[in-house]
Amino acid sequence: MQDRKKTVTNSWNGWDPLKHVIVGRADGTMVQAPELAIEQDWPDYGFPRGKYGHYPKEMEEKANEQLDNFAKILESRGIRVDRPTPIDFSQTVKTPDWNQESMFGCMPPRDIIFILGNQILESTGSYRSRWFEYLCYRPLLEQYFEEDPNMRWEAAPKPRLADLTYKKNFWKEWRTLRKEEQMERAKNRDWVLTEVEPVFAPADIARFGKDLIVQPSTVTNMAGVDWLRRHFSEHRVHVMNFKETLPVHIDATWVPLRPGLVLYNVGRPFVPAQAKLFEVNDWEIVECATPAHEVSAPLSFCSIWLAMNVLSLDPKTICVEAQETAQMEQLNKLGFEVIPVPFWDVSPFGGGLHCATADVYREGSCEDYLPKQVKDF
Ligand code: ARG
Repeated sequence: MQDRKKTVTNSWNGWDPLKHVIVGRADGTMVQAPELAIEQDWPDYGFPRGKYGHYPKEMEEKANEQLDNFAKILESRGIRVDRPTPIDFSQTVKTPDWNQESMFGCMPPRDIIFILGNQILESTGSYRSRWFEYLCYRPLLEQYFEEDPNMRWEAAPKPRLADLTYKKNFWKEWRTLRKEEQMERAKNRDWVLTEVEPVFAPADIARFGKDLIVQPSTVTNMAGVDWLRRHFSEHRVHVMNFKETLPVHIDATWVPLRPGLVLYNVGRPFVPAQAKLFEVNDWEIVECATPAHEVSAPLSFCSIWLAMNVLSLDPKTICVEAQETAQMEQLNKLGFEVIPVPFWDVSPFGGGLHCATADVYREGSCEDYLPKQVKDF
């Protein structure tokens, strides 16, 4: 067992041997009060648009059971697991610019915490309900800072998230658009965020050592990409978008599995010119398997593609949601030892196995896996 005092902050990609990870918690998660960034609408499950409140207690308990079990599985493999400290998410939060009637939760650390090398970067994202979510990770970050003299603790500029950060009446208008019109808008990256300030979600970044792939999305704007590019100036930041009307986070869309192998979402085709970087470096781009479910779980704002939201423990071992048999089989054939992890009940709380984690320490260093670069990309 690793000495608890010896935190090492070091993580450059999504596949190197995992030694230390944060796993989220479902406690007290809210269907958040409507806000300019997002409005939930689940009339069949007691939350029509405008209504907000705690997720049902039984759901929360089931999710926590699966999260605890996942933590145990990781620990049984010698991985240190830390958990966030939930706060009261039902409270109203407020800045000089706005009032938000509820917070959200702290299940998906991947949405808030970005780790690259020895740097842990807090990011706020674009939801007012998640503005203070970083506080749930503060006890851990304080501890890491104390234990690891090399840990570099950073925070992206807190976005103001005033009304000007969002396009006026975006959702109201969006709902009236036909699918083709929505597609057209998506092609132009015309989503809810304006460009008045940098906003990004860590889960929109896929890490490949020297190269970072960022997906501008409904929660990451181009100013956010620009900020990342300047901040991680030693890295090469590339932008990819996929055929999808409302992208949120890249980790169920373009998923690195090991050097030379990336999994892509068959339901969200990539732009061939943007995949060139991988092709010229002889990476294999494999299409994900068919998800086990045809619809998402009740009160889930994620898609069925969480099937490919996998967590690599090392280049040969990978955790996959236990019901996703086709995905498990495919990865098996690709040479992985697959660890099935029951996680369906966690999905309403913000995602799958990758979303639910933030990898603090993976052995290895910053390598160049894509040495042949493509011009203007
Ligand atoms: N937008 C993705 C989907 O529904 C979910 C990915 C969620 N990722 C996360 N880190 N919370 O397919």
